[in-house]
Amino acid sequence: MLEQLRAEIDECDSILVATMKRRFQIAERIAEFKIEQGLALYQPDREAAILAKLAGGNQAYPYGEQMKTLYETIFRLSRAVQMAAMLPFNVVLIGFMGSGKTSAGQYLASVGGYAFVDTDQEIEKKAGVSISEIFNRFGEAHFRKLEAEAVAAAAACTKTVISCGGGAVLDQANVQRLKQSGKLVWLDAPAEVLYERIKPQGGRPLAADKGMDEFRELYCRRREYYLAAADWTIDTENKAVSEVAEAIMRMGAKLETK
Ligand code: S3P
Repeated sequence: MLEQLRAEIDECDSILVATMKRRFQIAERIAEFKIEQGLALYQPDREAAILAKLAGGNQAYPYGEQMKTLYETIFRLSRAVQMAAMLPFNVVLIGFMGSGKTSAGQYLASVGGYAFVDTDQEIEKKAGVSISEIFNRFGEAHFRKLEAEAVAAAAACTKTVISCGGGAVLDQANVQRLKQSGKLVWLDAPAEVLYERIKPQGGRPLAADKGMDEFRELYCRRREYYLAAADWTIDTENKAVSEVAEAIMRMGAKLETK
């Protein structure tokens, strides 16, 4: 009896595998269409409509809850297939403090099924103390050494969105490593906007004691580094995090430059 039931499960699985393979292949073709038409990768309405049609998540239907979990995974994997078509390389976010590298990067990675690595977070994890504390206790030069290590480790990843600390591109060795790993996307905004964004956040030793003028001065000195390193630039001034992420995917799809 058990053998018979297991044979039936095996039969279901082979149908599932063949069906999933077909589904991913269709998703890839849809990615081509989205690229051509400049459509967003993430279509939450379409995903909701599929779930509703299948009654996923509705307790009243048999296995409704399981279907919802299954479909959430299928959606994520399908988006990852499409993301790989649009951005077949790592996405490296660069730019000044407050440009939204971490929030846009997290969103892009989660929507597209890519991994997310933030060099500042990696440094803090490894050192066991905050960035501010590293600056205070050991100085900026030591921080830059740790940053170079974090950049090298991140650059070795694949299918990853990498968010770099604002000063990572000052070091040409970092830029070279990152260039080999993916496309460098400069998230920019006017210094005043960046200043307003970071003011309530804290945790940034290079901005901690700066007024607007000094902050702008540093921003202006940094611009040439971002410009020289960037493959693409996105003005984030009036964009929501999701719009920044979609803009990156569209650029990947069209392989626009600068
Ligand atoms: C720095 C930016 C910070 C952090 C450190 C130094 C910089 O990262 O790496 O405080 O030199 O611009 P964010 O740009 O993520 O704030």
